[in-house]
Amino acid sequence: MSAGARARTAALLAVAAVVLAGCGDDGGSGDTGGGGGGAAPALEGRGPITFATGKDTSGNMQKLIDQWNTEHPDEKVTITELPEAADEQRNRMIQNAQVESDEFSVLNLDVIWTAEFAANRWVVELPQDEFKLDDFLQPAVDTALYRDKLYAVPIYSDGGMLFYRKDLLTKAGVAEPPKTWGEMKAACDKVKALPEAKSMGCYAGQFDKYEGLTVNFSEAVQSAGGTIVDDSGKPTVNSPEAKEGLDFLVNGLDSGEFPQAAITYKEEEGRRAFQDGQLIFHRQWPYQWALANATDGSSTVAGKFDVAPLPGKDGPGVSTLGGHNFAISAFAPNKATALDFIKFFSSEEAQKSNLVATSQAPTLSALYDEADLKEKFPYLPTLKASIDNAMPRPKVVKYGDVTAAMQEAAYGAMTGVKPVDQALSDLQTKLEELTAE
Ligand code: GLC
Repeated sequence: MSAGARARTAALLAVAAVVLAGCGDDGGSGDTGGGGGGAAPALEGRGPITFATGKDTSGNMQKLIDQWNTEHPDEKVTITELPEAADEQRNRMIQNAQVESDEFSVLNLDVIWTAEFAANRWVVELPQDEFKLDDFLQPAVDTALYRDKLYAVPIYSDGGMLFYRKDLLTKAGVAEPPKTWGEMKAACDKVKALPEAKSMGCYAGQFDKYEGLTVNFSEAVQSAGGTIVDDSGKPTVNSPEAKEGLDFLVNGLDSGEFPQAAITYKEEEGRRAFQDGQLIFHRQWPYQWALANATDGSSTVAGKFDVAPLPGKDGPGVSTLGGHNFAISAFAPNKATALDFIKFFSSEEAQKSNLVATSQAPTLSALYDEADLKEKFPYLPTLKASIDNAMPRPKVVKYGDVTAAMQEAAYGAMTGVKPVDQALSDLQTKLEELTAE
């Protein structure tokens, strides 16, 4: 059967399943599952599958896959590694879906892509009652739903935190990490008075023009009390609070408080700078904890840093919710295998192994309360609070256009191409156009 024919059959099956679900069988019978207002279509076929994902920096993904492959010799999983930046991963997956290619079976989706992939039917609905969704962090589950149906399963979450050089703060007489941008600047000035810190940058985040900038720009706006869109999805970015947020980023770069190079940082460039001892404060996801603490010589800051909640304008800041969910391509064969593989990867055992190897945020709530894990990863309570208080990015089918507009506005202002007021009012107009369609 061609990929197109397969997709049409899948669509017919989906319609049949919805019709059947409407026939009074509320028992969720058989293995098709249900919930979320209708049974999901059956996922059939067993055999080898592929898994498309961003770079596996820890090697743990491959380790888990090796374990799966040993246990499932007829249903082996092969990794297809995609580029490092989120936007490029999205492009690759979309190009693939648009030609209905069956090259990728399981997709490692960024939390912001669910609406777009579900609405375009590039991924299939998953049976909600085959996953104990109540055991997962609620904000993470919300990112995997589209119109109350489940299209992906949260594998790891992400919340921004402030990594800071505890050793240098202590030496400079700063007892507590800063809660506000003003306190951060004051702490920086004190630390930079130490001879060994003279040439260090005060603060950096992910400021290159890509998805990470959307995250950092949203966080700056939220941390000054503003929003990008309101609860109903209406754009709200032309506000005094948003201006204060964007001003924080623009002024930080203009004044030299943030290193100039930060405008080229994605996650990995910033991580390397922090590990090389070039940054006092760094906004980063939890994965940096394990790598920056490595004692194999790759990091100069192992044991010298700690994490705190992100600072904000007048008090603690508000993170943007990140994370990754696994979904099944509509065009892939062997969907029953794909579903089992997702169950395996989202299990407590796999999530624990992922946390231990990568310091990424689990999506199962119970893992945040395990005493041995809390001892090994003392940042877990800060991370949990970051995720619980985080704001999601706009949940829209045209997410690609929305994020491009946000990147354009923030980057334009941060590189001095556009005044902050103009950037925000242009962005408001653009977002209104995009959300009105
Ligand atoms: C991390 C987050 C993801 C975010 C990306 C931005 O991978 O988990 O949600 O979009 O960083 O670079």
